[in-house]
Amino acid sequence: MSTPIQTSANTAKYIALEDQFGAHNYHPVPVVLEKGEGVFLYDVDGKRYFDFLSGYSAVNQGHCHPEIIKALTEQAQKLTLTSRAFYNNQLGAYEKYITNYFGYDKVLPMNTGVEGGETAIKLARRWGYAVKGIPENQAKVIFAEGNFWGRTLAAISSSTDPSSYKGFGPYMPGFGLVPYNDLAALETALQDPTVAAYMVEPIQGEAGVVIPTDGYLKGVRALCDKYNVLFIADEIQTGLARTGTMLACDHEQVRPDILILGKALSGGTIPVSAVLADDVVMMQIKPGEHGSTYGGNPLACAVAMKALEVIKSENMVENAFKMGEILRSELAKLNSPYVASIRGRGLLNAIVIKHENPEAAWDLCLYLKELGILAKPTHGDKIRFAPPLIITEAQIKEAVQLIGKGLEQLAK
Ligand SMILES: Cc1ncc(COP(=O)(O)O)c(C=O)c1O
Repeated sequence: MSTPIQTSANTAKYIALEDQFGAHNYHPVPVVLEKGEGVFLYDVDGKRYFDFLSGYSAVNQGHCHPEIIKALTEQAQKLTLTSRAFYNNQLGAYEKYITNYFGYDKVLPMNTGVEGGETAIKLARRWGYAVKGIPENQAKVIFAEGNFWGRTLAAISSSTDPSSYKGFGPYMPGFGLVPYNDLAALETALQDPTVAAYMVEPIQGEAGVVIPTDGYLKGVRALCDKYNVLFIADEIQTGLARTGTMLACDHEQVRPDILILGKALSGGTIPVSAVLADDVVMMQIKPGEHGSTYGGNPLACAVAMKALEVIKSENMVENAFKMGEILRSELAKLNSPYVASIRGRGLLNAIVIKHENPEAAWDLCLYLKELGILAKPTHGDKIRFAPPLIITEAQIKEAVQLIGKGLEQLAK
């Protein structure tokens, strides 16, 4: 039996509205938020919470970051959308900024993360035909088991999670799977000459912060080179300082052929994603062959430049690294019998709950909500702890004390 959920009449009113008029495709923690500032969220009754999810790592820079909001509102008053039928005065500057920032020849701007993934796969297939010489319509892309890159038909076609794909077939052909963190299996798959790319998260986020063995990413790079296969890194959740390096691939100093970014690229304001690659890949796509009405819109460009700028100017990489170490060591000090493991890198962390009640992770998130921390389980027994990267040591310590109290309540 799950814990009864306590909500105020005010909160219940908003939840009832969503229940009645919205599709039931989510199962949210019963809290209704109306304001965000830095590491905190506030509900409709004025209660304050530590945000330990950060919009699935879209809000790395903190809620309503003043400089990002300033860039957003200033640009919003001038020009928001032109479509790519015309040039605009923000796109070129943004393209120069982001390609210099990450060291690639070109960028292709999109909106949501999953569109970034779709774009990367289209680029890889096109490269496979035009450069690698794969016979028409035979290109394959390999994914890792446990991957998550969104909800489109292509994304669920590569999923190994039945709640993502079941009942939505038929699925996209030309996709293959290998176990995550298994270089031998990857090598076998890449020997097939029709493989164009391996698309992988450097740390699997939705799967519950699954960190591969040190050397895995270097191994992926080497195998992709050996078999002339593109290495696509999905850094939508792990990128932009989240894991204590600018990209999670930087941890092993590997450079993917195609880099996908999203989420925090707008600091949680509007959907902005980007696919970066060098000319040999990017220039295979010709005018009219790919695009998006909103991709590269001037509002997104102005916001993304500022979102990237503040990551550097406010040393978020260093802070994520340091605060991550403190978070994991403080969590370990709690010594809770209900925590089977604590893992993470930088501020992308998870605890695995061990309890006779299979709903314990969900219950803990409800207790934490009462105590003033917002987090959500993933895959049943795992809870991600991923606060905004501007969190301070004192705030981490305060939050971990609250997590300790929540864990104590699991004894009841
Ligand atoms: C690794 C990864 N890739 C892609 C996506 C999809 O991003 P979006 O929800 O913006 O489409 C997500 C979303 O959680 C993700 O975690």
